[in-house]
Amino acid sequence: MNTEIIKISANDGAEKYEKAVELLKSDNIVGMPTETVYGLAGNALSELSVKRIFEAKGRPQDNPLIVHISEFDEIYDLVSEVPEIAKKLAEKFWPGPLTMILPKSEKVPQCVTAGLQSVAVRCPSHKVARNLIKYSGLPIAAPSANISGKPSPTKAEHVFSDMNGKIPLVIDGGESEEGVESTVITLCGETPKLLRPGNVTLKELESVCDKVLVDDAVLNPLKEGEKVSSPGMKYKHYSPNAKVTILKGDYKSFCQYVNKNNSPETYAMVFDGEGENLQVKFITYGNKNDYRSLSNHLFDCLRELDNIGAKQCFVRCPQETTDDLAVLNRLLRAAAFNVINLNKKTLLGLTGKTGAGKSTVSKYLKEKGAYIIDGDIVAREVLVDNAPLLNKLAESFGKDIFENGVLNRKKLAEKAFISPENTKLLNSIMHPAINEKIQTEANEAFKTHNVVIVDAAAIIESGYADTCDKLIVVTAPEEIRKERIIKRDNISEKDAIIRINGQKDDNFYNDKADYIIRNYEPFSLEDEIAQLINDIF
Ligand code: TXA
Ligand code: MG
Repeated sequence: MNTEIIKISANDGAEKYEKAVELLKSDNIVGMPTETVYGLAGNALSELSVKRIFEAKGRPQDNPLIVHISEFDEIYDLVSEVPEIAKKLAEKFWPGPLTMILPKSEKVPQCVTAGLQSVAVRCPSHKVARNLIKYSGLPIAAPSANISGKPSPTKAEHVFSDMNGKIPLVIDGGESEEGVESTVITLCGETPKLLRPGNVTLKELESVCDKVLVDDAVLNPLKEGEKVSSPGMKYKHYSPNAKVTILKGDYKSFCQYVNKNNSPETYAMVFDGEGENLQVKFITYGNKNDYRSLSNHLFDCLRELDNIGAKQCFVRCPQETTDDLAVLNRLLRAAAFNVINLNKKTLLGLTGKTGAGKSTVSKYLKEKGAYIIDGDIVAREVLVDNAPLLNKLAESFGKDIFENGVLNRKKLAEKAFISPENTKLLNSIMHPAINEKIQTEANEAFKTHNVVIVDAAAIIESGYADTCDKLIVVTAPEEIRKERIIKRDNISEKDAIIRINGQKDDNFYNDKADYIIRNYEPFSLEDEIAQLINDIF
């Protein structure tokens, strides 16, 4: 089959439509421009036309079509009832990018609604689409005119590229103004529910409906076996051949990440004015602060990735406001929900037995950009000018732990470590105070850092490990640890052994660990830490 393209503009007369009308009336299908995206149009009342639509798109049989009308009154033929809210919505948003789902009439064939008892109806605002419907005198079933799974077409040439040889005609009515498909709302339940976000925004819908529910599938992947409100949501969508990854976070972090993961045929999809500092090729998809400009170019850009042979594409994430859901909704599907949060704040605990080499690891992570909180320093500082805490210590261990009003740490230690009960008592006083101070410092550090590491020997005992997102445990064999502390603290072998024996066993640490770093020969610290760096930084 030869696929012809005919240009029709808004002011052209009926004669321009003759060929298309003839095709529609004889159960053939044609590419039709609309203000959202191009549609694959056929007679909604003809089973043969509908069958041809499904075939040309390669569309799964259980995904229903939208029926297009040119005037509101045509809806009465298609649905079994028109609730007040539908009239109000139509008054405000029709003709335009809003699709309403209502209980279907007898007249609408099951194949259009894929067996559902409801039908999706839309009155497009594009002059050429409305004229085509009017001149043909038919309700027009039209899904987006792409091959199923591909980005929707916003230009006649996109339709041609997907449908060449499969359909007789594409009407070229210029580039689609909106760029994303219509908003889909169902009015079949008790409360209206948004099934697909589009350029009639949630806020605009709420201005008419009081309350609008948002279907879970709008921004979340379907869970296995979950029932969908709209069959279209369960399919892979809008996908170019390239693997798409959405990167959340600031531009600087975006560049760092992309440059680091720069393999052949990697592209970036960024906002207007960006691209500097990127070591990969890039395309821009609109003004960061103008959501409309993003929705206009989105599908064109996704198609462009195929044209230029991209294998991998990192996309700047649009702002996430509840009113601008459409672009994010389409991008999430294009990326198969593959999203990386670059600015995620991570709190890591770092611990290990004495001499295992926590500080070596901590120094290394600091160089990678982490903020380090040293538990020993906090434990000392927490006692400075802290009258309530000092009073508690005096009550428990006697006033003689003070000399001339100053805490004698050595004396406190002697008293506290004389028995397990006393050690427990000291910890029950000190740990909550230390934890609180660590938390305050961590909150402050997160203002400037994404990764904060709490380096503390007793982080498991104090309970703070449970607050951390992940726990790193540094290990080394006993002999090595002994040598290290003899050297580091200038103590005798006997004292070193006493200290080592006073510690918990390996399982106590390893059971809680998310990462175990073997900090001794023949292991290289770089290798041991690579996974952690990859996951967190
Ligand atoms: O902007 C648009 O809506 C474009 C232009 C061509 O009008 N059309 C379009 O159609 O996007 P399509 O088929 O690509 O998407 C229709 C969506 C699908 O997700 C489908 O599952 C859903 O609407 N849908 C159709 N009828 C439905 C029904 N009765 N109940 C629930 N969802 C329905
Ligand atoms: Mg579609």
